[in-house]
Amino acid sequence: MKKVSSGYSPVIAVDRKAAKPLHRQVYDAYRAMILSRNLGAGQLIPSTRALAAELNISRIPVLTAYAQLLAEGYFEARVGAGTFVCSALPDQVAADERREAQTPATRPRGKRVATRAARRVAKRTTQVPRYGVVPWLRGLGAFSVSQPAYDEFPFQIWSSLMMRHGRNPQTHSLHYGGPMGSERLREAICTYLRTARGVHCEPAQVMIVSGSQQALDVSARALLDEGSAAWVEEPGYWLTRHVLKAAGCKIVLVPVDAEGMDVAAGVRKCRTARAAFVAPSHQFPLGATMSAARRLQLLRWAERAGAWIIEDDYDSEYRYGSMPIAALQGLDENARVVYVGTFSKTLFPALRMGYMVIPKDLVDAFVTIRHAMDLGTPYLYQAVLADFIEEGHYARHIRRMRLLYGERRAALVESIRKEFEGKLEVLGAEAGMYVAVKLPRGFRDVQMAHKAAKEKLWVAPLSPAYQGKDARPGFILGFGSTPAEKMGQEVRRLKALIARSGNLGGNAGGEGREW
Ligand SMILES: Cc1ncc(COP(=O)(O)O)c(C=O)c1O
Repeated sequence: MKKVSSGYSPVIAVDRKAAKPLHRQVYDAYRAMILSRNLGAGQLIPSTRALAAELNISRIPVLTAYAQLLAEGYFEARVGAGTFVCSALPDQVAADERREAQTPATRPRGKRVATRAARRVAKRTTQVPRYGVVPWLRGLGAFSVSQPAYDEFPFQIWSSLMMRHGRNPQTHSLHYGGPMGSERLREAICTYLRTARGVHCEPAQVMIVSGSQQALDVSARALLDEGSAAWVEEPGYWLTRHVLKAAGCKIVLVPVDAEGMDVAAGVRKCRTARAAFVAPSHQFPLGATMSAARRLQLLRWAERAGAWIIEDDYDSEYRYGSMPIAALQGLDENARVVYVGTFSKTLFPALRMGYMVIPKDLVDAFVTIRHAMDLGTPYLYQAVLADFIEEGHYARHIRRMRLLYGERRAALVESIRKEFEGKLEVLGAEAGMYVAVKLPRGFRDVQMAHKAAKEKLWVAPLSPAYQGKDARPGFILGFGSTPAEKMGQEVRRLKALIARSGNLGGNAGGEGREW
């Protein structure tokens, strides 16, 4: 027999001693909830038997109330499926009657509204730019910056691992895990980082986090106080700035050039900063690889200033043309670097899985902070990922994707060169899944990105990556999701759009810089 699913039991406070009959109490409660939209059109209602049991009353008043609600069109019955809030309840009826359904406590009264107490929120909520969805961060397809080739992901393997762990989990896996995360996964990550990224680590230093974003947040909370100064790259990753703003830190914008963060400029601006947030392997968004000299200079400054370096190594698995560049952390002899990595680029961003390598003497402080934030990373994905890495699927997937993205990157660089006749300089094509192009000053990149999105070209504007006054317009162009053979046509579409809009004048990077 087909099982009929059951809806949630609503909050109905029945009073057996009240003068109002029980069926009327049930009827009134449902009607009020429908009119106030606490119960939505089409929502499943529990069976009369289930509700009677829940309310600890006989089934008869519930049957009477349901019959009345059905007769008046608030409910509808679907054979074999159950009873639902009527999906055709006209909006007008609901709107007209909503007022009537408002209880005195919820109904606004002129005087009460005027004298309502202040609804104060923390100052930091206004210091971080408001969350808003810009189309290019959500759109899927040509030029989307953080979109890996989802269609190339080994779902067969992934789903069999999900089944393996979802079907018969051991009881202890269902209980709270520790703040550092699954031991097996930390060991697997540790082996990977030592071998492929030259990171010095032991599993006891690896914390599993919800993407690099959480790693940045834990680091800021564990290492910085309100008012602490921290260096960030200019231009740089805006979500690092958001973390620091939320923590009440003072942001020191340090310019980047072809060698990465300009450490000497950082020292000039604020020698005593408490931390530097950098992406030395592939600076975001201009793509520089930090030179060896700058790396040593940065490490030396950190040791002298007693500062911390937070190394965001978000996409260096994909390096083309040259040997992989080892992580900065591997060069550090004074345990000044917190290393941060993510699976968002190599697997997929919705996984929300990342990791950090914490200097040994700081582990306790990081664990304390993390434990106050959440109680660890979900078990299932950790278990699946540990198998995925241990069984060699991760290494194989990265190897396959490196070849694929290498072709896509070459196609993009070549198409830009051909279509723009060498007038656009392509930056950062040595690694990762995007390139950057700078456009002439005066180009309205944000405005153009909105126009492009309407044509399903998901270019990200460059100017919002700057926080200071001297924002350069340009585009950040992802190539991960577009097959090499289609790249030319997408670049031609972009070129045509720019040509059509004649957008090469006016003030650049104006409105809507922060997104
Ligand atoms: C500089 C930088 N760091 C980190 C990330 C990844 O963040 P997460 O691991 O939270 O998805 C990105 C994603 O685009 C990025 O550009």
